[in-house]
Amino acid sequence: MKTDQSTTTSQLRCIGCGATPHSATQDFRCIQCGDLFEFIFPGLAYDARLITSLWANRRTSPNPIDQSGVWRFRELLPHISEEHVITLREGNTPLYHLRRCARATGVDNLYAKHQGMNPTASFKDTGMTVAASAAHQGGFHWVACASTGNTSASMAAYAGRGDMRSLVLIPEGKISWGKLSQSLDYGALTCQLRTDFDGCVRILNELIRQKPVYLLNSINPYRIEGQKTAAIELLEQLDWIAPEHIIVPGGNLGNSSAIGKALLEMHDLKLITRLPKLSIIQAQGANPFYRSVREFGGTKLEPMTADTLASAIRIGNPASWKKALRVQRATGGEVEQVSEIEIAEAKAEIGADGIGCEPASAVTLAGLKKLLARGFVKPGEMVILILTGHMLKDPDFTINFHRGELFEGTPQEREAVQTKSLQRAPIVLDADLGAVIQVLEAAERNS
Ligand code: F0G
Repeated sequence: MKTDQSTTTSQLRCIGCGATPHSATQDFRCIQCGDLFEFIFPGLAYDARLITSLWANRRTSPNPIDQSGVWRFRELLPHISEEHVITLREGNTPLYHLRRCARATGVDNLYAKHQGMNPTASFKDTGMTVAASAAHQGGFHWVACASTGNTSASMAAYAGRGDMRSLVLIPEGKISWGKLSQSLDYGALTCQLRTDFDGCVRILNELIRQKPVYLLNSINPYRIEGQKTAAIELLEQLDWIAPEHIIVPGGNLGNSSAIGKALLEMHDLKLITRLPKLSIIQAQGANPFYRSVREFGGTKLEPMTADTLASAIRIGNPASWKKALRVQRATGGEVEQVSEIEIAEAKAEIGADGIGCEPASAVTLAGLKKLLARGFVKPGEMVILILTGHMLKDPDFTINFHRGELFEGTPQEREAVQTKSLQRAPIVLDADLGAVIQVLEAAERNS
């Protein structure tokens, strides 16, 4: 049995034509057919009991790569020499029971795997530790990404830790301040381009043809490998008993591809005996994947101009849609879309459970409600929501929602009246004890 990372052999394979080149070119696209690469692990076989106890034992080790919730599972990752590994001890994120949301939806076994509890407060860190380490091993001085804000925050941090320089391309005025501030503070060269995310991707693809910068978007297959570990860690937390459903937000569709890939690999390795159904949820205003599946049976994807207040997933031309389609189908999951109002309500509900998340993550709960209504999810089943980003990533959204201002001047303004019962606006009072007691007593009467 293999128990050591140094013996893990990985191989790049094109998802389109199956070519297996020794290495990828700068744009991480197959030179024969232009499709994306994935890592495969030919001949990988482990004794399930031994490998899972090895992973569990690493938790007590003082070694940084053992303390990382990503590198702890390095037998299922492409090999990177330890001296090149850049780690912020990412992963190790909690699995929370969502008590109130469980009551509200009727799904007793409703849990959130909170990837917002990563070092830069989003799931991106799990992929970034692997891809940034690959850049370091490759001797790159510059790394770069186009981003809706979380990838850039994460890339900037890992580049800083690895003593590399980072170039961030973000759409001007379309990412939250929290995320922008991270990229500045972690030392990135930050360019706000007057375009959307898809426009930033186009510029970056041109740039990497001319300059020796290492691309850290999720078409980089190292990112996908790192992001796989969220699902491995989740199954470890569930003592290797698979839940019926896992629900993820879909933007550029790297994360759903990664989680699905992990599920299939764990199933092949017999670490789990049944496959959870992986369902992918998009915002209605940024739903090219939903439309691809519903309107074209997954045969093609029509890019669109995306618009949603969940700015992290404001993406009209998702790069990894074919990978996501494959794993959604292989696991028997569903694809859904949710409205702006449904996202805002779901976010406030996750908040009231004492958990909180950023708007893009809340599509999971909103999507669950739809999947329940359609009978795809049954109340007796176990459901895991992947919460991708921390609540403090986008405080403007939260404050505007609770003040009743989020939908002012938008097409949803009238419909938004229905969200009133979830709003908890701050109450401004004189510094007077009586006034505070009055407010307290009124709240008690209304509860
Ligand atoms: N949730 C959050 C909080 C995100 O930041 C993203 C993507 C997603 C969900 C969707 O994940 O793209 O893998 O389908 N954010 C990217 C970024 C695009 O640049 O930060 P996906």
